[in-house]
Amino acid sequence: SLAPLDASKVQITKTTTPKAKLPKEELVFGQSFTDHMLTIEWTAEKGWDTPQIKPYGTLNLDPSSCVFHYAFELFEGMKAYRDANGGIRLFRPDMNIARMNASAERICLPEFDSEELIKLLAEFVKTDSSFIPAGDGYSLYLRPTMIGTDAGLGVSSPGKALLFVIASPVGPYYSTGFKAVRLEATSYATRAWPGGCGNRKLGANYAPCIKPQRQAASRGYQQNLWLFGEEDYITEVGTMNLFFVFNKDGKKELVTAPLDGTILEGVTRDSILALARSRLPTDEWTISERKLTMTEVAERYHKGELVEAFGSGTAAVVSPIKEILYKGEDIMVPCVNGESGNLTDQVWKWLGDIQYGREEHEWSFKI
Ligand code: COI
Repeated sequence: SLAPLDASKVQITKTTTPKAKLPKEELVFGQSFTDHMLTIEWTAEKGWDTPQIKPYGTLNLDPSSCVFHYAFELFEGMKAYRDANGGIRLFRPDMNIARMNASAERICLPEFDSEELIKLLAEFVKTDSSFIPAGDGYSLYLRPTMIGTDAGLGVSSPGKALLFVIASPVGPYYSTGFKAVRLEATSYATRAWPGGCGNRKLGANYAPCIKPQRQAASRGYQQNLWLFGEEDYITEVGTMNLFFVFNKDGKKELVTAPLDGTILEGVTRDSILALARSRLPTDEWTISERKLTMTEVAERYHKGELVEAFGSGTAAVVSPIKEILYKGEDIMVPCVNGESGNLTDQVWKWLGDIQYGREEHEWSFKI
């Protein structure tokens, strides 16, 4: 019978060569890692092997491993936060791990008991807790990953896999407060399409987006606003979900694209929608998951109804947008607070208060 993932079996081997820690001001996103990593091997014959927390180090893989040829790879992004009392908290880990299982299901990698992986994540984070930088905007970025490791070039479902988690101490994405970005609305390249896999967090969704991003950057736009179809439907921005705020005669609407299979099911996206629905006055605000075209954004901009735009993701939390190039015209987003708008600032504060435990909330998971 196949062994299920079992956190109680974890073996911990501590490093004998602890790393020197960088001053937190010098942290660069994803450039330095903690002393340990979590690894769990899986085979189709036996199921999940003993989880290991062991010194961070290289992997040794056969060059014919299916991850290198057919992109059997998925990942997650989540953070561990240090609260004001020195405690450690995750943010909605159940959402990330459920999504990880959904990604695994999509590319025939093995699924697992989510609660067991959350227990293992907690154990791993505790092992490397001295790497979690304190302070608003600081955290330990966790990168759960799974790859197919079968040796051989046959194109089929993996019979061997490796689930691993590494961790990188990170500082605020914008070290000197928000910095609003300029976007190029992109329709010559497509990030995701109906029936594809853009709603799953697969490495294969990211590599093809770098060339268009570099092309946009060469023209002075930091990110792509990914459009879809002849209607120029708005989908995402860069690696983030995307929100717009409109105001028509005092009636405000917060809009993001619906989860129709082409949108990554962002944990931050879901959290923003839930907080907006429960906290914004309903006589003033409509919260919409609906299809939205770039034509509508341009029209409402011309009418003076476009008031805010921002990206949402785990890494940056929220990322304000100040400009969108569409059909030769720069659409200017007001950014009334200099680099951001009022709801963008509000959402940033709501999420931070929960993540750092300044406000007790069921989404904050103490470990
Ligand atoms: C996010 O958290 O916004 C991301 O998806 C970024 C990650 C791919 C580095």
